[in-house]
Amino acid sequence: MSAITVRVPAKVNLQLAVGPLREDGYHDLVNVFHAVSLFDEVTAAEPFDVNPSAAPLGIRVEGDLAGEVPVSDDNLAVRAARALADRTGRSYRADLLIRKSIPVAGGMAGGSADAAAALVACNELWGLGLPREDLMEIAADIGSDVPFALLGGTAVGTGRGERLAPLETAGVFHWVFALADGGLSTPRVYGECDRLREEAGVAAPTPAVSEALLAALREGDVRALGQALSNDLQPAALALRPSLANTLAAGREHGALGALVSGSGPTCAFLAESAERAHELAALIKDVDGCRSVVTASGPVPGATVAG
Ligand code: C5P
Repeated sequence: MSAITVRVPAKVNLQLAVGPLREDGYHDLVNVFHAVSLFDEVTAAEPFDVNPSAAPLGIRVEGDLAGEVPVSDDNLAVRAARALADRTGRSYRADLLIRKSIPVAGGMAGGSADAAAALVACNELWGLGLPREDLMEIAADIGSDVPFALLGGTAVGTGRGERLAPLETAGVFHWVFALADGGLSTPRVYGECDRLREEAGVAAPTPAVSEALLAALREGDVRALGQALSNDLQPAALALRPSLANTLAAGREHGALGALVSGSGPTCAFLAESAERAHELAALIKDVDGCRSVVTASGPVPGATVAG
């Protein structure tokens, strides 16, 4: 094969319970991930230019959001491909092309998704045949959200979010995502969460999974799911980006069953009763101040998968 394309989903956090800051700079979490049908595509191709002095890993990004993605060696997809090659102890080459639809620095793990897709694509392109467990280990070293982008579906993450247990769910859930102008830095939002807690004199709780959330997912009860959504990073994201409060209020006013900031934001997620209600809701919130655009999506969907 001279090129492999992998499709990979965005995520929304159904619960993000943030515990104390650890010595390694991360927070202990209970992180209920849910993969939704908003996809990036990553193609890994054999390079045309076989000049041995050229960089072994090339990167290009296409799509309306392309200008916001770093195309340096720091790009998570490049780092993932390099980590995979390093694992084999041999030098491999690839040109990576990302077709970007997931918001950049939006709290939907777009960069992590691209890293997961690059692992799957290069594993295939280079004929390595590494099993998923090995890819999961490399993924966890690249970032806390990368293993989930490989797994997909709905899963609870513990530790810093990288230790995953898949969850049983029933039915399909329909979502609207309100994308904001500009991203929010994840470390900054975690830092603000710590600062707000300190200011309020509140100790960080030990994170625990919500039983009400698990029951709603098991039963496919969309109303109960809407009630059970929670995100401990939301106050911090709102403090850093006050306009998000308007966006969330507009969604609730227009009948969303649940409304929350996705991960570290600034994307806001709204749960709708049906696909039709999701489209209606999207039309009603798209002109709210601070909302750049809206997309509808459904979940759960599978993780990074080689495209047909
Ligand atoms: O793991 P990842 O590189 O995606 O994390 C980005 C940043 O988010 C970390 O450097 C850290 O500041 C913050 N983070 C955290 N606790 C976690 C996950 C991420 O504080 N469990």
